[in-house]
Amino acid sequence: MLVKIAKDRIRKGMYVESVACPSREFARRRFLVKTDADLTAILATSATEVSINIRLGLDPDGRQPQAATTRRAADPVRVEAVRQEVSQSAKALKASLGDLVAGGSLDMTGLSQAAEDNAGIWSDSTVIALEVTRLKSKDETTYMHSMAVSGMMTLLARSLEMDEETTGILGVAGMLHDIGKLLIPSEILTKPGKLTEAERHVIRNHPEAGYRLLKTYPELPSVVLDICRLHHEALDGSGYPLGLKQNDLSVPVRLSTVCDVFEALTSVRPYKRPWSSTQALDWMFARPQFFDRKMVIRLGSVLADAPLH
Ligand SMILES: [Fe+2]
Repeated sequence: MLVKIAKDRIRKGMYVESVACPSREFARRRFLVKTDADLTAILATSATEVSINIRLGLDPDGRQPQAATTRRAADPVRVEAVRQEVSQSAKALKASLGDLVAGGSLDMTGLSQAAEDNAGIWSDSTVIALEVTRLKSKDETTYMHSMAVSGMMTLLARSLEMDEETTGILGVAGMLHDIGKLLIPSEILTKPGKLTEAERHVIRNHPEAGYRLLKTYPELPSVVLDICRLHHEALDGSGYPLGLKQNDLSVPVRLSTVCDVFEALTSVRPYKRPWSSTQALDWMFARPQFFDRKMVIRLGSVLADAPLH
């Protein structure tokens, strides 16, 4: 669980998730404070607050972390707390994406911080986050889906030992990947019955529409644009919108596709029963023509190793 504390309350034995410096001069993340040099380095930053993980280190009152060695039923209070956090993140994302669709300015620092906070929820309470994001109201579907994909992408990126900067960018990419859906008329996007060919075409155009929108923000890293445009591609070239084949699909794009499809398959939808995580992973694993098997296996191990509470 993440807790923000004033910088001068940092102590040896605390586990730092991030030091939020306005001028970004302290890049180190996710480490145990062991030495006086660690303390001095943190105190010397321009940050006022530090995020600590009290599951992995001392809490603000110096109490030892509680080991998560045994699997037990999730605490309902914790479930509700995660539900609230996820719901607030989805609302904030709705506001941010709405600004972008309206042509407003891009707050990269704010998006990065939101992705990082969301990653903290997912790394700390993976199973609960999976459960609470499965169920989405019609209004929050795209936002909750995007936060869930972002969370899983960061878990997967860390598991693949990508550096923290790349992981952070992928978190932002997950939040923005479906922004093109906001450009689809809601009567098509939420149509309960069968879609016409023309409506299907509109929906399948959302990666390209999102890409064109994001391209107007040159400060966005190119991988964010790639993931927006290519997350529905398949390794055998049968995906859309470009029909690219595996050699043209980068590791971050493949990673995003696996997280996106996993999230969709395990979501509760009015027209289908949600699949379990195992069913979704098995289904993707059985389709190596579409999905990168290494990513599927890695996602499976990330979720299997996740603490239940
Ligand atoms: Fe999509």
